[in-house]
Amino acid sequence: MFESYRLFYSEFRNNFTTTGAIVPSSPLLAKAIALPLLQRPARPIAVLEVGAGTGSFTHRILKHLRAGDILDIYELNPKFYTFLIKSVNRDKLIEKGIHCKFHNADIRSLRKKIQYDFIISGLPFYAFESQTVSEILEIYMEHLSPAGVLSYFEYILTPEFKSKFLSPPERDRLIRVANTVGNFVQKYQYSCNEVWLNLPPAKARYCRKTAAGMAPSHLKGRSLAHSPLTKR
Ligand SMILES: C[S@@+](CC[C@H](N)C(=O)[O-])C[C@H]1O[C@@H](n2cnc3c(N)ncnc32)[C@H](O)[C@@H]1O
Repeated sequence: MFESYRLFYSEFRNNFTTTGAIVPSSPLLAKAIALPLLQRPARPIAVLEVGAGTGSFTHRILKHLRAGDILDIYELNPKFYTFLIKSVNRDKLIEKGIHCKFHNADIRSLRKKIQYDFIISGLPFYAFESQTVSEILEIYMEHLSPAGVLSYFEYILTPEFKSKFLSPPERDRLIRVANTVGNFVQKYQYSCNEVWLNLPPAKARYCRKTAAGMAPSHLKGRSLAHSPLTKR
């Protein structure tokens, strides 16, 4: 664990715009981001994880997977990728019949025609240009199955807080990203969860293609009443 914090901090300093965080996500944020997998269908599923870093979400996702499931992982940073590969027991996954594939690549290079039941994104949208955010969100929706769920997170208060200390161009960039993300959330988010035990505190957002308020078909008949999900 100490090793993942050390690597994260050094990559935060060396590659801020792609790392976007000072430390890995907390176990509570990982639990929140993987929450939709609790209501996975019984059939084999396909999952895409983007921006895995040192694997906070990966290990949580793997707890939900069974024989026949597919997990594709995209991680841009070669140091995180190497760390991640070493931290996952791939022999055990093969033994369990889980098809896990690691890609040391930008998610924008995704060419597979596959549709995913769950997409879990750890990307720091507020560190990117709004054009990049749009491109990536488009890729997510293109590869999300009709009943699929996309989970991603953003840090609470980041745009408001940062904008007070920034140069005008940087503030404009943040506003553009906030608009892009805001439009997306309005269209596709059906629920979200705040996680205060994370550095910094974060909000896990859950999105799907179906209209807001409608459950995806594999969730029909399964109540979300016992889930901590609430729309905000
Ligand atoms: C905020 S960190 C999150 C890491 C991990 N999911 C966590 O929560 O601790 C963002 C990660 O996304 C990766 N990343 C950034 N841009 C990417 C891209 N275009 N494609 C794939 N990975 C990317 C970074 O290298 C970094 O590991």
